[in-house]
Amino acid sequence: MRPGEGSTLIRPLEEGDYQAVRAIHVEAQREYRGEDWNSLSSAQQEYTLYDSSEKALNFFRGSGYSFVAERAGEVVGFVLAYRTIVAPLIWIRFVTVLPHHRRQGIASALYREVVKTAQSKGIDEIFATINPDNVPSIGLHEKAGFLVRDIKGAWFYLSDVGGSTPLRRQPQGTP
Ligand SMILES: CC(C)(COP(=O)(O)OP(=O)(O)OC[C@H]1O[C@@H](n2cnc3c(N)ncnc32)[C@H](O)[C@@H]1OP(=O)(O)O)[C@@H](O)C(=O)NCCC(=O)NCCS
Repeated sequence: MRPGEGSTLIRPLEEGDYQAVRAIHVEAQREYRGEDWNSLSSAQQEYTLYDSSEKALNFFRGSGYSFVAERAGEVVGFVLAYRTIVAPLIWIRFVTVLPHHRRQGIASALYREVVKTAQSKGIDEIFATINPDNVPSIGLHEKAGFLVRDIKGAWFYLSDVGGSTPLRRQPQGTP
């Protein structure tokens, strides 16, 4: 048995899990941002952690597609997902597993539960955004059967245009 390995219970997110989910989310953000995390203001940290705020967790819980993984009575990972309003699509917002429990199939088990629930409700499509540098995340999605495509972002900064919002950028050279 690998370190941290043991029987894992996958169950729906409950209100009593909120504190544990927030603590794991904080750890995941610290891990992802490294030193930068401490230089963020508390308002910026709070913004980054919005998905594990009480309001957001109430929403994810209500949607019925969010699950936690429990080992020996402790939450060790979670997936936050919801059904979108505009289309019959499940959107996975975030998945994470505590470092000591990784590589033991926990995220895969959480994903299986999302898939099973979607299937039971006749929903055919599940979407997740992944960072192209995140090797474990790409591996998880490929192994779970996702078709991993490149996504290019288009960013617009109001500060670049002096605070005004052009509806359409003029091609260069046009008056
Ligand atoms: C991504 C993450 C959720 C995977 O959780 P996990 O419980 O370790 O995943 P699993 O054990 O189910 O792994 C499934 C597959 O993903 C791939 N994988 C997972 N971790 C990997 C790693 N470090 N390197 C390469 N492939 C990896 C493997 O193909 C693995 O199958 P295998 O162990 O049979 O080879 C976890 O690494 C994590 O919490 N990372 C930080 C948060 C994050 O980046 N979340 C995803 C973005 S939203």
